[in-house]
Amino acid sequence: MEILLPEIEEIKLEDVLLKRRSIREYSSTPLTLKELSHLLFAAYGITDSRGFKTVPSAGATYPLEIYVNVRDVVNLEEGVYKYIPEKHSIVRILDEEVGQKLALASLKQMFIAVAPIVIIIAADFERTTRVYGDRGFRYVYMEVGHVAQNIYLMATSLGLGTVSVGAFYDSEIKNILGIDEYPLLLMPVGVPLSEE
Ligand SMILES: Cc1cc2nc3c(=O)[nH]c(=O)nc-3n(C[C@H](O)[C@H](O)[C@H](O)COP(=O)(O)O)c2cc1C
Repeated sequence: MEILLPEIEEIKLEDVLLKRRSIREYSSTPLTLKELSHLLFAAYGITDSRGFKTVPSAGATYPLEIYVNVRDVVNLEEGVYKYIPEKHSIVRILDEEVGQKLALASLKQMFIAVAPIVIIIAADFERTTRVYGDRGFRYVYMEVGHVAQNIYLMATSLGLGTVSVGAFYDSEIKNILGIDEYPLLLMPVGVPLSEE
């Protein structure tokens, strides 16, 4: 099943940098498809006809894949989806949401299970190391930072909260999602509890 996501609207960036904070407490409010659309566009959306994206990429090799665990998004079935930047769409790869499993595999950081969505940034290192050799590894890690900051800033500008989670068992997360790429960062996103 493939779902075309709503178009992106312009959102002012003013004050977003000042407001950005890691948020680990989320309310029970679901996200909207529009919010999910904005977050995924910020993460790895395509911004020109060459296929270049919202983030810089060494040699435009784009080694990352973006997945999202959907637990509670209005009018969207739960499950794990893969983001397809070329079509700004998502494709469901697992029918069950796996928030609880992701949380347990992340040293029991249980706020991950409560979040309505969890964005997973994963890497296929080969796309970059085949061009740059071993130096490509650092380029991939740098690119993940660009993506994560975009997600932080978009979440903040939408009044949502997120946090970069790097503490987890790689193989467990990989198995839970059933993906070939290596997971590098998990980013739960939700309405901050304090904002309700
Ligand atoms: C690479 C990386 C890994 C992180 N891993 C975790 C994590 O596993 N769990 C967590 O709660 N926060 C994690 N954080 C968030 C930091 O704790 C947070 O950014 C820091 O406390 C500064 O707070 P601020 O983001 O609100 O400015 C991580 C941040 C980075 C950059």
